[in-house]
Amino acid sequence: MYEILKKQNLAPSIKEFLISSPEIARKAQPGQFVVVRIDERGERIPLTIAEYERDKGTITIVIQEAGKSTYHLGRLDSGDTLSDVIGPLGRPTHMQDVGTVVCVGGGVGIPPIYPLARGLREIGNRVISIIGARTRELVIWEDKIASVSDEVHVTTDDGSYGRKGFVSNELQRLIEGGRELGLVFAVGPTLMMRAVSEVTRPYKIRTMVSLNPIMVDATGMCGVCRVSVGGETKFVCVDGPDFDAHQVDFNQLLSRQRIYIQEEKKALQRYNSLHKHGKLK
Ligand SMILES: Cc1cc2nc3c(=O)[nH]c(=O)nc-3n(C[C@H](O)[C@H](O)[C@H](O)COP(=O)(O)OP(=O)(O)OC[C@H]3O[C@@H](n4cnc5c(N)ncnc54)[C@H](O)[C@@H]3O)c2cc1C
Ligand code: FES
Repeated sequence: MYEILKKQNLAPSIKEFLISSPEIARKAQPGQFVVVRIDERGERIPLTIAEYERDKGTITIVIQEAGKSTYHLGRLDSGDTLSDVIGPLGRPTHMQDVGTVVCVGGGVGIPPIYPLARGLREIGNRVISIIGARTRELVIWEDKIASVSDEVHVTTDDGSYGRKGFVSNELQRLIEGGRELGLVFAVGPTLMMRAVSEVTRPYKIRTMVSLNPIMVDATGMCGVCRVSVGGETKFVCVDGPDFDAHQVDFNQLLSRQRIYIQEEKKALQRYNSLHKHGKLK
């Protein structure tokens, strides 16, 4: 059992959990994730390790309520326990000193850039972070990102905070302003990562993305998380989650992310109905 030591509501439908997990905290590296099961009958939910504190034996995850399992998780509180937290999984992000790096985080993809930016800066890079969300209240972890960045740019789709537009527009602006960039790293919704990739492609700026396909076993056995990268099939859970953005077949990834959409809708409706009638534990 893994205890939730602290829960924070960061924004409507975005929750942060501090979880006691000394073994994972000891081994975690930037870019890795865990698989969480709420109880013994629960689905396996892959979630990025947004922070790890080895001395305290804790990890932090930030979730966006998207469907049945994440809504269920979002209703837990400090003092509750999770039946399984498995990890750290996936390959750690390759850290190298390339001069200037731009870390781009969108929505719930903002917290995962925190350990990346920190690690990349520690080895000598100048780190520019671009974070964005639909609207002001969904811009999360701005102070934490600022604490590990040399510059932070904020965008909102509706212009309620920071510059109006997408994170990819801000990146384009920086590049057109003459910034020499050694690497761009993007984490967020697949459409956002594809847009970032298209911005950097003409300039041949090395661009990495952290992919989030549907996963089931997260051990490389089931094949559900497969993506095409440079024409080769890769399993994101064991070969990734980081890949060269310019080689990723984003259209295939987007269509595979939608394959269970009807089942997901039904599962959420059933969960909400049980919750409404007080039939959930
Ligand atoms: C490596 C990785 C890291 C992730 N990190 C985070 C994170 O830090 N914070 C966060 O909020 N979300 C993260 N996700 C996405 C998160 O796992 C899904 O939102 C969650 O599993 C959805 O489950 P659900 O039952 O709530 O929703 P569902 O209704 O089942 O699905 C909602 C949407 O989530 C996606 N999804 C569904 N099942 C899975 C699954 N088993 N694996 C992956 N995606 C799925 C689908 O695209 C689907 O359309 C990550 C996914 C991966 C693969
Ligand atoms: S989730 Fe099964 S192979 Fe990756």
